[in-house]
Amino acid sequence: MVKEKKRATGSFYTCLSVADYIVRWAIDDEYTTVLEPSFGDGSFLYSALNRFNEFGKSNPVIYGVEIQDEPFFNFTNSNDIVDCTLTDFMDYKLSSGIDAVIGNPPYVSLKNLSSCERNKVISLMNSYGIEIPSSSSLWMPFVVHSTEMLNENGKLGFVLPYEITYVRYAFKLWDYLKKNYSKLRIYRVFKDFFPEVDVETIVFLAEGKGGTTDNVEYTAFKDTVNLFCDNSLINISIPIKDISSLSKPFERALISQNTKEIISSLRQNNTLVPLVEECKFKIGYVSGNKEFFHPSLDTINKYKLKESNLIPCLINSKDINNQKCIGLDTQNAISDSYLFYPMDIGRGEKKYISFGEAKNVNLGYKCRVRNPWYITPSIEIPDLILTVFGDVPKMITNSKGFAVSNSLLCGKINSTTKNTSAKELVCRWYNSLTLLMIELYIHSLGGGTLVMIPGEMDKMELISNYPESKINDVFDKLNDCMISKGVSETYSLGDELVLKQIYNLTDIEINEIRKSLEKLRSWRKPDLRR
Ligand SMILES: C[S@@+](CC[C@H](N)C(=O)[O-])C[C@H]1O[C@@H](n2cnc3c(N)ncnc32)[C@H](O)[C@@H]1O
Repeated sequence: MVKEKKRATGSFYTCLSVADYIVRWAIDDEYTTVLEPSFGDGSFLYSALNRFNEFGKSNPVIYGVEIQDEPFFNFTNSNDIVDCTLTDFMDYKLSSGIDAVIGNPPYVSLKNLSSCERNKVISLMNSYGIEIPSSSSLWMPFVVHSTEMLNENGKLGFVLPYEITYVRYAFKLWDYLKKNYSKLRIYRVFKDFFPEVDVETIVFLAEGKGGTTDNVEYTAFKDTVNLFCDNSLINISIPIKDISSLSKPFERALISQNTKEIISSLRQNNTLVPLVEECKFKIGYVSGNKEFFHPSLDTINKYKLKESNLIPCLINSKDINNQKCIGLDTQNAISDSYLFYPMDIGRGEKKYISFGEAKNVNLGYKCRVRNPWYITPSIEIPDLILTVFGDVPKMITNSKGFAVSNSLLCGKINSTTKNTSAKELVCRWYNSLTLLMIELYIHSLGGGTLVMIPGEMDKMELISNYPESKINDVFDKLNDCMISKGVSETYSLGDELVLKQIYNLTDIEINEIRKSLEKLRSWRKPDLRR
């Protein structure tokens, strides 16, 4: 099958050993009736047939569904025991209930379905009382529609994407699951057992259909061998309400007990506080057309654009990351980027605006909804600037007063609550505890890259009660380190200068924090797990 078609239909097949594991769990005896709602190459079906063979059962009741001709006929041409139907599972109905659902449903965004298919999914979910946004993925309605076909006490065992543990659209699913099963389990395996797909996968087991529960049992394993012999790294019960609080309980579970205790004692002393109480981060301005709104020096001269209509700005993180001389403040930043912001329109500005209209810039998505189209809204000069991507984001003060675009985050200090200075926040930012908090509050993209987004930044906690007398000295040392050694070293220096010398954390405690940080990083990065 060609790659594009594989992607569009989510056709990546489960290895037999994992299918066997789920099947052994799901099929208790020869009388179990089974459904595989998207059987693909039939891994789960072959596994189920083997299981029934072990029981000496030659005519088990197994239903299989598949939407694509090729895998459907490949399987049905060589098998006539399974009752197979070539259809969209969303249209599939059974006249009687079944005891076990097994499989690995497609991970396809509803946005990539045709509008007819998408509407069908949405109305089917509505009929079960679940509102499903179009940002969600097809695996979710597969879980619900399968659950609705289960008999009392039935079981469902699926391979699902790890995103079930944190994406917002799955919160409704968790509400549904807790009202429909008496036991829920998630098994996460460090050594990726499904490397073909670019999302992390877990084993999801739900049992006791008809019952209820408030928790999900979470177990992590080094590899599938350890999964099969039940030799776990951690095993913990997570309250389902913690999933929708966005507090990343499945990450939190991986850190050591000692680290948990260090964090909780810092919180109790009010030494670890929510950053948002002192500083709110938002994305920078969205101009709507990068080229037009950031005229080059030649263009500025050609149209004689007035200086008062040009705001000095930083357009992307390279403006910060690639200029070593910046250190921890924009004072030494060299930028020849300007945002065209015409409040005082003269002849040159008029001509430049007409030029933009001739190029249809005014009809672009962002520009056409604002009035006048050429004024970029929400320009705020931030006190702090934060880079968005990567393990070790750079936070710098903005004493030169640049505006920043939406490739960066803008921090505005809340002067009504506390009078924290931007320099003080930078001193408190650079240390391993902040990096650990980033792992605990900020999500990553499929490839493991962290993305600092405002909603999650609001959850970040930062070390607090910083002595004013130590601001300038520590800031200067961190700044020198940033210039001479780079950002990772600056975080390490903060451990020594701030965590150890100011907050009196011991080397042992700092090492505990670093070990937990490394552990969370290793679970986050797919290349370390393949
Ligand atoms: C991730 S593969 C898994 C196949 C098999 N369950 C396994 O684990 O090896 C997903 C399968 O779902 C099928 N599929 C996609 N959309 C479907 C739908 N709406 N109804 C039924 N099957 C579907 C695809 O054709 C593909 O074979």
